[in-house]
Amino acid sequence: MRGLMEAKRPIWSSKISFILAATGSAVGLGNIWRFPYVMGQNGGALFLLIYILIIATICFIPMIVELLVGKTTKKECVGAYESINPKFKTFGIMCPVTGILVSSFYFVVGGWIINYFLKSLINFKCNDYLKYFSDFTQDGVSVCACTLLFLFGCVFFNARGIKKGIEFANQVLMPLFALLLLFLIVVSLNLPNAHLGLEYMFKPDFSKLNSQMFLAALGQAFFTLSIGPGTLLTYGSYIKEDKSIAKTAYTIIIFDTIFALSAGIMIFPAVFSFGLEPNSGPGLVFVTLPEIFSQIPYGEIISVAFFILLLCAAMTSGISMLEIPIATFSERFKMTRKKACGLLFLIIASISIPAGLSFGILSGMTVFHKTIFELLDFTTSNIMMPLNSLILCLIAGWVMKIKGKSFLQNEKLSKLFDVGLKYVVPVVLILLFYMGLK
Ligand code: PHE
Repeated sequence: MRGLMEAKRPIWSSKISFILAATGSAVGLGNIWRFPYVMGQNGGALFLLIYILIIATICFIPMIVELLVGKTTKKECVGAYESINPKFKTFGIMCPVTGILVSSFYFVVGGWIINYFLKSLINFKCNDYLKYFSDFTQDGVSVCACTLLFLFGCVFFNARGIKKGIEFANQVLMPLFALLLLFLIVVSLNLPNAHLGLEYMFKPDFSKLNSQMFLAALGQAFFTLSIGPGTLLTYGSYIKEDKSIAKTAYTIIIFDTIFALSAGIMIFPAVFSFGLEPNSGPGLVFVTLPEIFSQIPYGEIISVAFFILLLCAAMTSGISMLEIPIATFSERFKMTRKKACGLLFLIIASISIPAGLSFGILSGMTVFHKTIFELLDFTTSNIMMPLNSLILCLIAGWVMKIKGKSFLQNEKLSKLFDVGLKYVVPVVLILLFYMGLK
């Protein structure tokens, strides 16, 4: 992006480029790939209800806090925590570590998309898309090659200082992506038995309520909004003058939720129509989408377009994850951006390759019954991201004593924010952890 200049401390060129980058970070695979499958594994409509409750009541506060801490300290994560109190340095280090671990499984899925995109170029038709997905993910060479390609693509943009290419991707491709999504929703809703998918999504069955759902919904909310690993803190540190942080947070949350719900409405009617299992896990989108494409007129062309756009959405999020350790490497160790990117490429490749292989030759390697891929996903989304955020909220509320009136005009709202930051968010987060982990 032009606004992120190559000076010592990059600065966004305009409010719009900052909002777009932050929204681009939020809207990604978390909405299209992760949301439907986590919802499918956690009971459908009831999960959705809990998820929306968490988004509407808690996520707003940690999001604002991250952006504010970045904006006021004007430092990358480790420096930001250190400048609040040198004793907090370890909490700062947790951010780039989380960023690296999240990227390591995210980039595997990015690799899957590259494969599906390439396949759709040569007219991808097969009899059993479920079998294709499982065969492909077990093929170590293809998975690793695609993962490294996706990683390289993202690192390339980071190394160039996030220039016009990404701004273009955010400004033009995201609306295009939204239009295609809308089109696919219409197609999916017209499939036979589509209403069963909608019922699954919107008719909660309270008898299925369990404590794991809360942790899963919390993890999904933090993952999709990019809260916790320090992306928002890092992006916030590039803000120049006073921007309306609260409005930015609302904008991101609203767009992100619209994208997630749209993905669900696109996927679930198709899942039920094709007789697939909603709880089939990470492969859900990769099986249903090709099925849809194979059944609609001009499906081949639409599938190419869809996977390109999904790739762009995934890349804007991938780039934002990489920016956390890159900012830390370059500012703390005085590395050039390019060197920091090279080092990061090696680190992430060495973790994402075993993660990618965990559907094939490393599938037997499990910890707590989870493969490397599942472990990375579970620990970063459900534990590290909310935990980082809890720590930052405690520091912001009790040490920095951030007050709502410093950025909110409305007195009532700012009082609500103060109570939320000091008491409600920490208590709810601790409770959700307790319920989900016990
Ligand atoms: N929010 C992104 C998505 O939904 C993922 C992400 C997580 C990005 C953490 C940055 C940091 O795909």
